[in-house]
Amino acid sequence: MGTARHNLRVDGARLWSSLMETAAFGATPAGGINRLTLSPEDGQVRDWFRNACEAAGLTVGTDELGTQFALRPGRDSTRPPVATGSHLDTQPTGGRFDGILGTLAGLEVVRTLNDAGIETEAPILIVNWTNEEGSRYAPATMASAAHVGTFTTADILARTDVDGVSVADALDKLGIAATEPTGSRTIGAFVELHIEQGPILEAEDKTIGVVEGGQGILWFDGTITGFESHAGTTPMPRRRDAFAGLAEVALAVERIARAHGPSAVGTLGEAVIGAPSRNVIPGRVRFTLDIRDPRAATLDAIDAELRAALAEIAGRRNLGFTLDLVWRQEPVPFDPGIVALIERGADSLGLPHRRMVSGASHDACNLALKVPTAMIFVPCKDGISHNEAESATQFDCTAGADLLLQTLLTLANAPVTPPRA
Ligand code: GLV
Ligand code: MN
Ligand code: MN
Repeated sequence: MGTARHNLRVDGARLWSSLMETAAFGATPAGGINRLTLSPEDGQVRDWFRNACEAAGLTVGTDELGTQFALRPGRDSTRPPVATGSHLDTQPTGGRFDGILGTLAGLEVVRTLNDAGIETEAPILIVNWTNEEGSRYAPATMASAAHVGTFTTADILARTDVDGVSVADALDKLGIAATEPTGSRTIGAFVELHIEQGPILEAEDKTIGVVEGGQGILWFDGTITGFESHAGTTPMPRRRDAFAGLAEVALAVERIARAHGPSAVGTLGEAVIGAPSRNVIPGRVRFTLDIRDPRAATLDAIDAELRAALAEIAGRRNLGFTLDLVWRQEPVPFDPGIVALIERGADSLGLPHRRMVSGASHDACNLALKVPTAMIFVPCKDGISHNEAESATQFDCTAGADLLLQTLLTLANAPVTPPRA
């Protein structure tokens, strides 16, 4: 086997055909993917991924939360692997690139190294993290969070979806059996390739986003309680309409986020009426909030303002409410050394680039708490993501995978970088 070659390039057509082949698992008529974590379709893509990794000579292990680890040995098996990867689950109306690009680009990097007969000093590890999306189970990125110890495995296994199915039951139902405890897999560095999921790169005609860190996130679960009564007989002044109260909350979220703009964003993404009926005034609603900003102090301020707004709305309308913080992700900086390495790599590949902070949450944001970590972004069409219309070009996907290849090669052949923790 030879050594690193800096003129090495991935096979962009092969990467693209892997993306299109796996898009069949959970394909929607509108051209997107519905592949919620630990669904039967997620089971199918996991099997595909395992088979493809084994065919590439990798050894695949699975942790207690179903995260898949595919290892390519290095010359020095005492060195911690340089890891890459992302996720293969999607939103219910998800696209074909969010997470999938980063996972399959890892596979393409390994296939490219195999074809060229290149051995690295440190092993290379490709990871498919369970439930990055956070749609079926909260929080998002729960498996990588448990991997770094932010949550216990038992806590995450007990989380339930809206039908009351726990993570443990969903894993059992798919026949996913652990071969290793969560958190036991050593990782020396982590580099994740992802679509930007926003409009900046496309607008500025840049092929690469060099990601310096991730912004902070607050997730809330809330309820508003009023009183169910007859829609035809209850005079307007006597009503305690939970949904009308929620409508005011939605506007308050928008107003508060805008007041902390332009960086802050706030979304009321789920609103469910307790027992919906055309001629019953809603007595109960359940809702979720997603608040983000790159500064922790802004998250604190928004948290306080939201609670005050809810109390005011509920008091004025004679409603009850609850608001529970179910997830707080602190803003996280990435490793300056790997960020600079990615930037130099983009220069040497002649790819136009800019630095940026990730607006979306990623498993890399958890890994960054324990090991040197950074991310590479490529553009997506019109900045659209979490939508079946999500789209990226073969050129940009290939460019991102080439940069991932160069970055992993450099890290895996550099002098040992021990994990920080
Ligand atoms: C994950 O996709 C998130 O940013 O919410
Ligand atoms: Mn993603
Ligand atoms: Mn996503």
